[in-house]
Amino acid sequence: MAIIGRNTKKEYLQHIENSFTLTIAEMKNIVKDFHSEMRRGLAGLKSSLAMIPTYVDKPTGDEKGEYIALDLGGTNFRVLELKLKGKGKLSPPRVRKYVLDKRHISGKGEELFGYIAQRIKAFLRGEKARQDDVLKLGFTFSFPVEQTGIASGELLGWTKGFSARGVVGKDVVMLLNSALAKNGLGNIKVAVLANDTVGTMACLGYEDQDCDVGVILGTGTNACYLEKLSVIPKWNGPNTRTGHMIINIEWGNFNKLRRLDYDIALDKASENPGRQILEKMISGMYLGEVARIVLNGFISKGLLFDGLRSPIFNKRGHFKTEYMSRIEADCSKNLSEVIRFLKESGIRNSTFEDRCLIKRVCELVSNRAARASAAAMAAVITKIDPALSKTHTVAIDGSVYEKHPGFSKNIRTGLEELLDKKASKIKISMAKDGSGKGAAIIAAVA
Ligand code: GLC
Repeated sequence: MAIIGRNTKKEYLQHIENSFTLTIAEMKNIVKDFHSEMRRGLAGLKSSLAMIPTYVDKPTGDEKGEYIALDLGGTNFRVLELKLKGKGKLSPPRVRKYVLDKRHISGKGEELFGYIAQRIKAFLRGEKARQDDVLKLGFTFSFPVEQTGIASGELLGWTKGFSARGVVGKDVVMLLNSALAKNGLGNIKVAVLANDTVGTMACLGYEDQDCDVGVILGTGTNACYLEKLSVIPKWNGPNTRTGHMIINIEWGNFNKLRRLDYDIALDKASENPGRQILEKMISGMYLGEVARIVLNGFISKGLLFDGLRSPIFNKRGHFKTEYMSRIEADCSKNLSEVIRFLKESGIRNSTFEDRCLIKRVCELVSNRAARASAAAMAAVITKIDPALSKTHTVAIDGSVYEKHPGFSKNIRTGLEELLDKKASKIKISMAKDGSGKGAAIIAAVA
């Protein structure tokens, strides 16, 4: 049966435009559903939002001392050494970045932690004296962890393509401790286990007392915020200094969303089908793949490159989010950067129309992502302060927010459409590489 009205390029593009546009009404619905999932999560009821109590209160800015930090959340991990000087001031940290390969990401968990311990040992070797002191370490681990204490917690499930065996369901601090001990680093004490959103928020919160939300828009996506203990029915632990606690929302798993066939296809082929539905619409690990699936649809209908197939659009995972950034940034008359990109990808011939189409599809996919992020952000802030009666600083980090052209502007537009003038109460501040530094700050709070 012919699909009426979708046979020409123009009609098909119009259909894609309509499908990917998140209307204001839809964004408002996301906010509403987000609130109800947040409440259910806080009450310990079934919800796509885990709402994990982190055992961490807001930093005061007075924390002092020397710390090391381990920041693990993607294919790179970092080791840092830093000094908190109090009054919200940090000395410039010594930082080293290490790369994980497939063997660590999808091999045995023991190997992953063993490799990390070895690198920490190499990092400290530069400062011999330190190997005998007790060293306090802040561990940023950017995966969903059910915390059982400030420095303990079990991995609920891997995200972002990780699959190392023997880690899910285990206490990741114990795994790290035992790897450290095996490498002669028994003098290191893990003082805190924190999600990257929490580290990011703590890093900015150290100097800005209005900071009550932390967001990551990078390879993965997530947020945390400061919540009153009195509205966390599932919390039965002790009180905190301010009567508040940072909650790791794990918003990437939010699933009350209108999904398109492309989203469903991506999810089915992913390592974690049925999970991280919001993350699969908005984060760097997946945006390129959404665009690729859409563009591949045009190719198979003969509406792009005269139907000529090529691996970049034909094979799963080949069209990366950073290519979208490059394409969307091209404002030249002839889209000459797109020509260059296509040539590098083995596509020699393209018409101007082809290139406009590619750029438009990328924009539609990333704009939907920015608007969904805005809705989620608005939901979190209005959960804390429904009337937006005060200023809220959102500490943000991640490659998509930082590097994708127009992303931050589109988030701002989305917030204004949702909250009108009150959107001006929301200040979004970059906390570049804040997750590791923040872990040290939290270690000091602890
Ligand atoms: C994934 C992880 C989450 C993390 C986020 C950003 O969604 O599950 O814990 O905060 O990526 O790195």
